[in-house]
Amino acid sequence: MKNQLSRRKFVTSAMGAGTGALIFPQLSSLTLQREGSPVRPIIITSHSNETGKLAMDAGWEVLKAGGNAADAVEKAANVIEADPEDTSVGYGGLPNEHGVVQLDASFMDGKTYSAGAVACLENIKTPSSVAKLVMQRTDHVLLVGAGALEFARVWGFREENLLTEKARKIWLRWKEELSPDDDWGSPEHLQNIRKKESYYRDFPDIEHHYGTTNVLAIDANGDIAGCTTTSGLSFKLNGRVGDSPIIGAGLYVDNEVGAAGATGRGEDVIKSCASYYIVLRMKEGIAPQKACEEALRMIIDRYRKINSDFYPSEKFVAINRFGEYGCASMTGKRNPQMSVMSSNGFLRHEGIVAYSGRP
Ligand code: GLY
Repeated sequence: MKNQLSRRKFVTSAMGAGTGALIFPQLSSLTLQREGSPVRPIIITSHSNETGKLAMDAGWEVLKAGGNAADAVEKAANVIEADPEDTSVGYGGLPNEHGVVQLDASFMDGKTYSAGAVACLENIKTPSSVAKLVMQRTDHVLLVGAGALEFARVWGFREENLLTEKARKIWLRWKEELSPDDDWGSPEHLQNIRKKESYYRDFPDIEHHYGTTNVLAIDANGDIAGCTTTSGLSFKLNGRVGDSPIIGAGLYVDNEVGAAGATGRGEDVIKSCASYYIVLRMKEGIAPQKACEEALRMIIDRYRKINSDFYPSEKFVAINRFGEYGCASMTGKRNPQMSVMSSNGFLRHEGIVAYSGRP
């Protein structure tokens, strides 16, 4: 990131800021105009593990060969969705409360503002590809459940069991614990489940999460595309839909500005239209890193007013049309990371924990 920024000349549009030593006030207070050649093509993902790297390799192959951003994003997302060890996305994702894997995904093209999404899709390993087809081959945006599966079948997607042994064992363990963290309950119970921190402390070995992945890319033409794909909240109520397939919540892409994607507690992300918010902030000239942090602050400010024990879990990634990127999470012992691939090579970029999760 540092390298990319130093390659570019920043010119403020503020009166009198063009000469002599330039004192940089808060980035957010400036309208910035960048000169010089933008870093593109470029592809990023919120996944920072080895699969994230493989995904970037796959997406980069497409971009390097002159392919478009949407195809690169799909290729990369498919790698993550196919990983059986990853319990947050696609094949191997943790199931709902009945032990059934239900996947959500969205796709958006920043040039045309077209979007497609699927929710509660069962038996199809690559929901991002189905979402892309909803975008490209229908006049609709969101297909759910049986309708989404029927659409996938028509397009020749193969049905398979997505519940791996690893995921089944984690789910079974959760059932046996009679989890105090489930999603049914009286207002008192629901108040308490927001105290997720204590749950993680008491049951550290049960995986229970909102894991998701975002893939965002800019191609050589400057066109931007993005995808968000997930198995959603583990052990969720049957039919629960998170933020990932909701355009503006889990994903938003605009060629004129950039793109943003969300992971974390979908309910908070939906209620705050977080990805759209981040893109709007970037449109004001705010850097992607800062825009992610401001979205987290917006969510914290809202929910802390109502519940001082609110335990947030969101992580946002964003990229602007100049190829600058950033990520921020609300909580975590370590800074959040993301994977990046461009002509500068592969790197794992470290963002920041914007807020500790404590009031
Ligand atoms: N962010 C994923 C979910 O809440 O389902």
